[in-house]
Amino acid sequence: MQTGINSGGTMVTQHAPTVSTKRNQPFSALSGICTLLCLVAVATHASAATRLIDDADIANQANTADWLAYGRTHNEQRFSPLKDINQGNIGQLAVSWFLDLPNDVGLVSTPLVADGILYFTGTMNIIRAVDARSGKLLWEYDPQVARAVAGHKKAGWVHSRGISLYGDKLFAATWDGRLFALGLKTGKLVWSTRTYDMSEALYITGAPKAFKGKVLIGNGGTESGPSRGYVSAYDADTGKLAWRFHIVPGNPADGFESAAMEMAAKTWTGKWWEHGGGGNAWHGFTFDDELNAVYIGTGNGSPWNRKIRSPDGGDNLFLCAVVALDPDTGEYKWHYQTTPGETWDYNSNMDIVLADLKIDGKVVKALMHAPKNGFFYVIDRRTGKLISAEPFADVNWATHVDLATGRPVERAGARYEDGEENIFPSPFGAHSWHAMSYNPQTGLVYLPTLHTSADFVDKSVDPDWKAVAFVGGTAVDWSQGKDPRTYPGSLQAWDPVNQKQIWSIPQQHSWASGTLTTASNLVFQGQADGWLIAYDATNGKEVWKFDTGLGISAPPITYKLDGKQMISVLVGYGGGMASRITPGAEDLGWAYGVHKRRLVTFALDGEINKLEQPPAQFAEPILEAGFDVDPVLAAQGEVIYGEQACSACHGLGVIAGGMAPDLRASAMPLSEMERFFVNIVRDGERVGRGMPGYPEITNHQIEALRHYIRQAAHASPEGSN
Ligand code: HEC
Repeated sequence: MQTGINSGGTMVTQHAPTVSTKRNQPFSALSGICTLLCLVAVATHASAATRLIDDADIANQANTADWLAYGRTHNEQRFSPLKDINQGNIGQLAVSWFLDLPNDVGLVSTPLVADGILYFTGTMNIIRAVDARSGKLLWEYDPQVARAVAGHKKAGWVHSRGISLYGDKLFAATWDGRLFALGLKTGKLVWSTRTYDMSEALYITGAPKAFKGKVLIGNGGTESGPSRGYVSAYDADTGKLAWRFHIVPGNPADGFESAAMEMAAKTWTGKWWEHGGGGNAWHGFTFDDELNAVYIGTGNGSPWNRKIRSPDGGDNLFLCAVVALDPDTGEYKWHYQTTPGETWDYNSNMDIVLADLKIDGKVVKALMHAPKNGFFYVIDRRTGKLISAEPFADVNWATHVDLATGRPVERAGARYEDGEENIFPSPFGAHSWHAMSYNPQTGLVYLPTLHTSADFVDKSVDPDWKAVAFVGGTAVDWSQGKDPRTYPGSLQAWDPVNQKQIWSIPQQHSWASGTLTTASNLVFQGQADGWLIAYDATNGKEVWKFDTGLGISAPPITYKLDGKQMISVLVGYGGGMASRITPGAEDLGWAYGVHKRRLVTFALDGEINKLEQPPAQFAEPILEAGFDVDPVLAAQGEVIYGEQACSACHGLGVIAGGMAPDLRASAMPLSEMERFFVNIVRDGERVGRGMPGYPEITNHQIEALRHYIRQAAHASPEGSN
């Protein structure tokens, strides 16, 4: 399961982004007329020698003027050598400028910086270039995602975790499966290619990864239908497919694409190809310029339950693994599987961080990885051999990892063999896509951690279970377990050499952002409750905080411009928790369309000390007089609401977390508005704002949904959430 979900969004132009600094009042930075003028201005700028970003640039640790790649440099450490902002002066840190993004919803992406320009992707995959000195919008490119998905069934989400830069181009991918290149200076489309067919129940939320003249992308959708994961690398200049690596084997009768697939097929049983097998690579790509390898973090099984997927057992390669590939050919080099024969959604799509670690007196070219399964892995990346692995959160599916075999030692019963079991961690993982950072000075990893368990029950699963595209499923029932901890999340500092926790800060709300660490021994992290906090990297002491007025899920970045260290972050609670696919976000009051989503930049001479935002707002369910809920219809509606993934945006149990309207409080499901409900839900009238249409939904299903929504509204205490 890809829990980096959010929803909503739009590209309509009725609200243009507006920039604010202390000195100027908000102004409309880009209206239809201004587009031309802005592009003329950019063109003038571009006439200066065009820089070609190459691998040496992206690998260059010493370059602090830019932030060229997802994890800053090719090693993905999110460590900056900058020290200008430090514990002595951090009290002066304030907002220099902010850009309002009125049509955006959840924001989860890492902005990139090259030559004083900030580039980022927002809701519905809209790309923007902003002058990092002033916050002024330079250009905007809208890939028209709504037009692409209109009239189609669509799985998944409307957010993206990032973009990539290479040569003179920017690369981004869309919800509907396109990968495209824009001219960095012009914002004009250079090429666009489709990475999967619209009929497939897949989506892309990940950042493409550019290296060696290629751009790599995978996809998500393991739970949306039968799916077989793969990654594809395209030529950065032309968009032509260079190579493709399948993550799990297909039907042996069709022949294998590679020796690696032939090897992998020996670890599967039954007719796995009928289920797809899974392994989708929706996140977690790292390029190693020192060892000439690309590492792919692979996804969980499709379906989750191995009894159904591969009934006679087996490790099921390359699920839940780090796979090293040749960056030029896509050929397999080695793999390390974190969860052999996975059955709990323990994908290994989390970030892969490279560092030289001194272990037992020797410097090791190490790879660090903290996947969902709760173990922190240190791997020798020359060979793929496991060096060490210890649990960084509550784990009960395995007792430990055996260093001699490199395999986890599973606890009896963990595979819910007896039909029902409480398992730590839950399918949300002990760590999700929120990036960890590594500070070579402190030798510590700063790891956003989740603390939840799940009750798995497969007593009622039909042995003939089959996934249906766009209905999908997991072939096991699960629900959130009762958790002994009083806090659902934490930030912890982890010593990867000694494999132990150094400090930990409990958090009352989970889904805080990825982290940034600097040479002045600071760690920055955005919080679900809207605070951007800086900690002392050595001991976790809070040294500064700023209330942005809206939850933060996107990781902060830093760079130095005109002699000033800046920190930028996208503000707008986003992802699965924000969509409330599990309870929690409704307590925060980040209502859809109420709070301003923003790109915010801080500096020591910033003059804005407060960001205005409306207060927390909670849904007030509408009670429809005279509406008699039919429990049979409502029960059918509940099933449809789950199968059609309405819950992925409108929230579990019809309680929204802010990524889409709370349907209990919406007038659209009321009887007198039924016509509008049909327009929105079946005809896709609001697809431009991130509400997909469901062209095949029947009148009966519409009625069942309305009964389910009314039931939820009537069950809620009036005026509360
Ligand atoms: C990918 C996310 C997503 C999914 C999935 C989704 N919605 Fe929506 N929905 C939205 C967003 C965003 C809006 C608000 C659009 C706008 O601003 O006009 C919305 C609006 C609506 C509205 C109008 C609410 C109002 O008061 O304006 C209804 C009704 C609705 N959705 C029902 C459903 C139903 C029923 C399903 C499942 C069959 C569903 N949605 C699935 C994102 C989603």
